[in-house]
Amino acid sequence: MPPIEQLAGPRELVAALVTPEGRQNPYPVYEELRAHGDLLHIRPGLMMALGYAEISHALRSPRLRVQDARSYDVVHPGWRSHASLRGYTDSMLYTNPPDHARLRRLVSKGFSPARVAALRPAIERVTGRLLDRMAGLAAGGTPVDFIAEFASRLPIAVISELLGVPEDDQAWFRRVAKDLTIALEGITNVSRIGVADAAMDELSAYFDELIGRSRREPRDDIVGALVRAHDDGDRLTHDELVGNLMLLLTAGFETTSFLLGHALRLALEQPRHAARLRGEPGFVTGYVEEVLRFESPVQATSRWAETDVDVLGTTVPAGTKLVLVLAAGNRDPRRYTDPGRFDPDRPDVQPLSFGAGAHFCLGAPLSRMEAQIALPTLLRRFPRIAAAEPPTRRDRWVGRGLERFPIVLE
Ligand code: HEM
Repeated sequence: MPPIEQLAGPRELVAALVTPEGRQNPYPVYEELRAHGDLLHIRPGLMMALGYAEISHALRSPRLRVQDARSYDVVHPGWRSHASLRGYTDSMLYTNPPDHARLRRLVSKGFSPARVAALRPAIERVTGRLLDRMAGLAAGGTPVDFIAEFASRLPIAVISELLGVPEDDQAWFRRVAKDLTIALEGITNVSRIGVADAAMDELSAYFDELIGRSRREPRDDIVGALVRAHDDGDRLTHDELVGNLMLLLTAGFETTSFLLGHALRLALEQPRHAARLRGEPGFVTGYVEEVLRFESPVQATSRWAETDVDVLGTTVPAGTKLVLVLAAGNRDPRRYTDPGRFDPDRPDVQPLSFGAGAHFCLGAPLSRMEAQIALPTLLRRFPRIAAAEPPTRRDRWVGRGLERFPIVLE
């Protein structure tokens, strides 16, 4: 890739985002793009929003739609042969009005503030168990990979609590969830989507068992609530039931592990922040919000304009795909002073990292709570924790997170 200042137009800059260098550090590219405007025409049928206000507006606009089965039919005829894509399109994230509100209302019952708050002891317990395990692996100063041994384990263990998945099944669950997230990238890699399809088939069979168990022994958990909605009539089809369970498993898995990885990396780079996380109980709340702003685990999402839509004075023509670069909105200098600086004391941080509007992340309170519990607990338990070597990043644009982060604990 030539130096980005030599990449003249928005089209070349967007192409630079999906090169290995762009994926490693997309932030300079966002700033070059921003110099062309906050809402850009990239090519006919494709626009990109980089401004905080423009992205917030677009996410809240009922006339901008998420990709759903109907739009897949237009863009990728034949997609229905992929079990994983069928699974996602049955879920709320790939559903528009009026079905979206119905699905979201039903699943939200499982995410009531009371139910999320009730998970606190489970998160504390799992955190303690994972830290014990890590302490064993790191005995004698042996480096351990924080991502493999903690950050990717905690979210799955917590979702398993929520869905009633027994501990013995969690290693399998982790593997299947990882395979399924491939399909979140859409049909960008035909050979890898087969892996996601196989995982979807395995998972459907497993969820069928879970649903059967929930019918035989009714429980007041999220699976129970969804099964009742299905059995009470036509409020939820079987495919929607399975699709939404699958979404819950995958939407909160890598995203939360990315958040935990970024949070620890930034704390170990700035020992004064680590010290405050250990000693100042209120500090972690603002710290986690700033981590979310500074390193958005989901860098971008997109919407489709079915008709011409006005976004703060710019028309998004019918038939256009609008890419919303959440991470660029989080670093918009019109919204935040000195946005490229990590500052956990920054006032009024409202990151776009969980989206906004009708599809605002249902798991936001849960993932925030996981990070707010795990980080101070980890740092207090291991006062001498340090990076063993620099972390490596995933080679992906939309999902931004660490691949490996070797640390020593003593
Ligand atoms: C740091 C962690 C997380 C991040 C950054 C994140 C990010 C997001 C974003 C950006 C969206 C909106 C996408 C769009 O509008 O196009 C979303 C939606 C969603 N997220 Fe999360 N998420 C996280 C954790 C979780 C967790 C833990 C769960 C559940 C266990 C979850 C469940 C969902 C669901 C169900 C939706 C779809 C909501 C809807 O379509 O109405 N997420 N998430």
